[in-house]
Amino acid sequence: MKKNIGNKFAFYPMPVIVVGAFVDGKPDFTLVAHIGIVTHDTAMISLNKAHYINRGIKESKVLSVNVVDESWLEKAAAAGSVSGRNTDKSSLFGYTIGDVNAPIINEAKLSMECVVADIYEIGAFENFVVRVVNTFADDSILGDDGDKPDYRKFKPVLFEMPNYTFLKTGETLGECKSFMKK
Ligand SMILES: Cc1cc2nc3c(=O)[nH]c(=O)nc-3n(C[C@H](O)[C@H](O)[C@H](O)COP(=O)(O)O)c2cc1C
Repeated sequence: MKKNIGNKFAFYPMPVIVVGAFVDGKPDFTLVAHIGIVTHDTAMISLNKAHYINRGIKESKVLSVNVVDESWLEKAAAAGSVSGRNTDKSSLFGYTIGDVNAPIINEAKLSMECVVADIYEIGAFENFVVRVVNTFADDSILGDDGDKPDYRKFKPVLFEMPNYTFLKTGETLGECKSFMKK
C-alpha cells in the first residue's frame, strides 16, 4: 500500500553541477542541483535570488555548467558552502575562458558553455533558461566514436535533498530498446 506523505518534492536524485560566471570581471562558482531539461538543447537552472553569481549571469548572459564527479567533489562542495559576496571563489578552480566568455572549470571532465535565453522569476528564485552552445569533454570520458560522453566511464555525482546526501551513479541496466521489445 502506498502512503500519502504530503506534497513532498520527489524528483531526486539529481546530478549536481557547478555553475561558473564572471561577476565584476572575476569568476564566481556556485553548486547547483536544481536543474532540468526543457528541450534537447535547453535547460533550466534554478538559483536563489540572493546568490552572488546571479548578477554576473544577468549582465554577461553566459554561464558554464560543470558536471561534478567524485574526483573534484570536495572542491565543488566548497563552491556551495560560501558566497562570492563574502569570499573570493575565483581561485577555487583552474579555469579556461570559452568561446562565449564563460569560465569553464579545468577540473571538470564534462562542461557546457551556455547562453541565457530567458529568466523566469518564481518566488525567491531566478530560473535561468539556458541554451548549450559548446560542450567540452575530456578524452578519458568519451566513447569509442569519440564524440559522446560514455556514462560507464563518466559518473556524475547525484544529490538528494531529503537526507542531504551525495550518491554515486549506479550500474547500467541495459540499452533502452532491449526493454521495449518485451
Ligand atoms: C548540495 C547543494 C546543492 C545546492 N543546490 C542549489 C540550487 O539548486 N539552487 C540554489 O540556488 N542554490 C543551491 N545551493 C546553494 C548554493 O550553492 C550556495 O548558497 C552558494 O554558496 C551560493 O554562492 P554565490 O553566492 O557565490 O552564488 C546548493 C548547495 C549545496 C551544498
